[in-house]
Amino acid sequence: MDQKPLTIGIITSGGDAPGMNSCIRAVVREAAANDAQVIGVNHGYDGLIDGDFQALNARNVGGILQRGGTILQTRRSYAFRQRSGIQKAIETMKANSIDALVVIGGDGSLRGAHELAAEGIPVVGVPASIDNDIWGTNMSIGVDTATNTIMEAVDKLRDTASSHGRTFLVETMGRDCGYLALMAGIVCGAEMVLIPEVPVTMEAVVEALDSAYRRDKTYLIVVVAEGSNIRTSDLVKVLNEKRVGFEARVTILGHIQRGGSPTAFDRMLAARMGTKAVEALITGKSDVMTGLLGREIELVPLEEAITRKRTVNLEYYTMTQRLAT
Ligand code: F6P
Repeated sequence: MDQKPLTIGIITSGGDAPGMNSCIRAVVREAAANDAQVIGVNHGYDGLIDGDFQALNARNVGGILQRGGTILQTRRSYAFRQRSGIQKAIETMKANSIDALVVIGGDGSLRGAHELAAEGIPVVGVPASIDNDIWGTNMSIGVDTATNTIMEAVDKLRDTASSHGRTFLVETMGRDCGYLALMAGIVCGAEMVLIPEVPVTMEAVVEALDSAYRRDKTYLIVVVAEGSNIRTSDLVKVLNEKRVGFEARVTILGHIQRGGSPTAFDRMLAARMGTKAVEALITGKSDVMTGLLGREIELVPLEEAITRKRTVNLEYYTMTQRLAT
């Protein structure tokens, strides 16, 4: 007797990240190549609870690879955090003959994936979040694009900062993780980076910026991670009131960092992780996440990915300081 083809549900959940669409396409095409079907779940876990689906096939995922955002739309689901929400999602999956799930998202979404796996649902997670705060992968989908977006923005800000002789405080996203700010500090040649991982006093920041000014710099760039212990709004006030260095201005990059066409790196990462996720489900793996470790895409236990904390490499912090001499 022929075996029924595997039906895989696919979800994008949490904050969107550039490359999610590239990953959806990879999952659908890899599934098709293995005679498996894919059902797209709209609006994250809420769609899994409500049975809000769309049919995906090799043809209708054409032309989405280069688009930012997610064609499935995404949400931070409150219903799914309740036991009743998880049970309802499982019932909806069974009623719609969805055998397995690929969850593309950040740490909260992967936590949800682990909960489903614990209930016996075959699930593979794919890390996608601009924050790069997920343990078990060197890079999450979307991080490279966001870093490039920040770099382009700071390059533009540098033009105006140098023209006016000003200090620019540029606030980046990242929640509690300083990765984006740290990378930006190096690739944008910032005078200073403020990240949650390295708390500093306002006095130390003022002193460092005053010292940079006295070293005859003609403008200053400070990258401030949103989770840093020094608030951008407080810093600009202190700098301008105490007349430290140049006149200061603030730019909060905000959700611009989440949009845009994914870079080649993110498209490649999405293709590799998407195909690996399908291969994992087809070979009976579950409760794992795809992770870029060294050059390879490996399967990492979801339990570890959600309980362990990824740390930033503080050598880069020292590097920023040295390169700002
Ligand atoms: O996790 C991604 C992220 O963009 C964080 O960097 C940021 O703190 C948060 O999401 C913003 O969330 P929202 O889009 O719900 O405002």
